[in-house]
Amino acid sequence: MSKKEKVLDKKSKKAIEDIAMNGSINNSRKLNFDTSWQYAPAPESTDHFKLKKKYDLFINGKFVKPTDGKYYKTINPATTETLAEIAYGTDKDVDKAVKAARKAYNEVWSKLPRKEIAKYIYRIARLLQERSREFAVVETLNGGKPIRESRDIDIPLAAAHFFYNAGWADKLHYAFPGKSPQPLGVAGQVIPWNFPLLMAAWKIAPALATGNTVVIKPAETTPLTALLLAEVIQEAGLPDGVVNIVTGFGDTGAAIVNHPDVNKVAFTGSTKVGKIIQKALAGTEKKYTLELGGKAANIIFEDAPIDQAIEGVINGIFFNQGHVCCAGSRLLVQESVFKTVIKKLQDRIENLIVGDPMDKNTDIGAINSKMQLDKIKEYYEIGKSEGASSFQSSCNLPKKGFFFRPTLFWDVAQSHRVVQEEIFGPVLTIQTFRTVQEAIDKANNTAYGLSGGVWTDKGSKIFNVVNKIRAGVLWANTYNKFDPTSPFGGYKESGLGREGGLHGLTPYLKM
Ligand code: NAI
Ligand code: MG
Repeated sequence: MSKKEKVLDKKSKKAIEDIAMNGSINNSRKLNFDTSWQYAPAPESTDHFKLKKKYDLFINGKFVKPTDGKYYKTINPATTETLAEIAYGTDKDVDKAVKAARKAYNEVWSKLPRKEIAKYIYRIARLLQERSREFAVVETLNGGKPIRESRDIDIPLAAAHFFYNAGWADKLHYAFPGKSPQPLGVAGQVIPWNFPLLMAAWKIAPALATGNTVVIKPAETTPLTALLLAEVIQEAGLPDGVVNIVTGFGDTGAAIVNHPDVNKVAFTGSTKVGKIIQKALAGTEKKYTLELGGKAANIIFEDAPIDQAIEGVINGIFFNQGHVCCAGSRLLVQESVFKTVIKKLQDRIENLIVGDPMDKNTDIGAINSKMQLDKIKEYYEIGKSEGASSFQSSCNLPKKGFFFRPTLFWDVAQSHRVVQEEIFGPVLTIQTFRTVQEAIDKANNTAYGLSGGVWTDKGSKIFNVVNKIRAGVLWANTYNKFDPTSPFGGYKESGLGREGGLHGLTPYLKM
């Protein structure tokens, strides 16, 4: 029995009886307790698979020990329990992996008929679907995102990227008519922790479909689904060395980027590291794409359907705990509807379920790491010290693990750090505007240019505004919709190059 139930007074007990007897409460009896529904726990089970105690590097089609023999622990951020030990690859291991990828490229992959390449990629897609439940659970255990999201978004989308790119493998001449698209050779790829398997799919699928071989490094905190993907790649019978997966830290990533025999670098992560990579690659012949941070404006005009817009704002900033490069982290609201919007947002946030990521009812799971939680907490203090008004959900947070309450900041200015810098957590800043031009100016007043959203009833306003916002992806009356056929990427400090769609094939080709 919960505390709340224990403290029910006589009046409230009588009121409950009334409801049971008559379907309504006798008006003279006022309820003196919280009437909101409490969800019963609905945990996803973990008994349908078993993680290994230790994971080695995946090089040349086999799991091999790291040269220096070093391993590190990967944890569940919702409980801080250790899940497995992971090999810490060094530059020697990266060199082995690049050599394996080069050999596979020269001797096998570049000689295969294109439709055979397609078959391998289709096989990966189908195996991912077959093992999707296991992948979803491991993604949630290792990364902290709600099981509902890994089950319904991350894993199906990852499979969709393999399906989509497989389709292009033997049709590149149709994709680029009049040209003669050729692979580059070995692709070196480094990915972040917010969408571990999905980012691996974004990187590996187009590289293979265009005829390249791969060396990829998962993020240090979330290596497990990439290592399960290595098993899938083995099961799919890919020739040895076509995909190599080297786990490790930033220095492992740098070793891939700087390896002289890598032809193309694909990176998703922080703008800080993106700049280091761009400097390192300047003057080399390596092609590269950089998918970096963001600080997207989500704009609500007074003529918008407000209730739908509220849901879009909630999804825009709280999806995946706000660990989303294209998160709608800056809300711009037309002044006339500000009071309504902020009231509705507060009510909605109070109803978000924050907690165990493995529970199917959970809306906001665990923050990915202690480091990221500390960063979010620091920004919360910065926001308050800058003079912002704030609101946080009153929910209870689990005692163990890394959690943060959904948070709103308003009374903020363009100059505030919480408005300008990427927090990468469940924290939304809210500003007002009066005219369309002011909304556009504020939306563009950022170092980033990855994404944005517009909420209005007027189609003409949508076209006007989205054409004037300098961002790679803009959503209208929706947010955070992803599709493998659609290109994704940014301007300014959000990076360069596009991933997904036809645009996502070109960085892996010379023509
Ligand atoms: P990070 O950029 O350091 O890590 C991303 C990947 O790059 C990881 O696999 C990491 O091992 C690797 N890496 C680190 N240093 C490298 C180097 N010198 N050369 C090559 N690879 C390197 O991101 P971090 O430190 O995990 O997060 C810091 C902040 O970055 C976050 O708070 C967030 O604001 C932002 N971020 C943005 C992402 C996005 O999707 N736009 C993804 C991850 C982080
Ligand atoms: Mg870093």
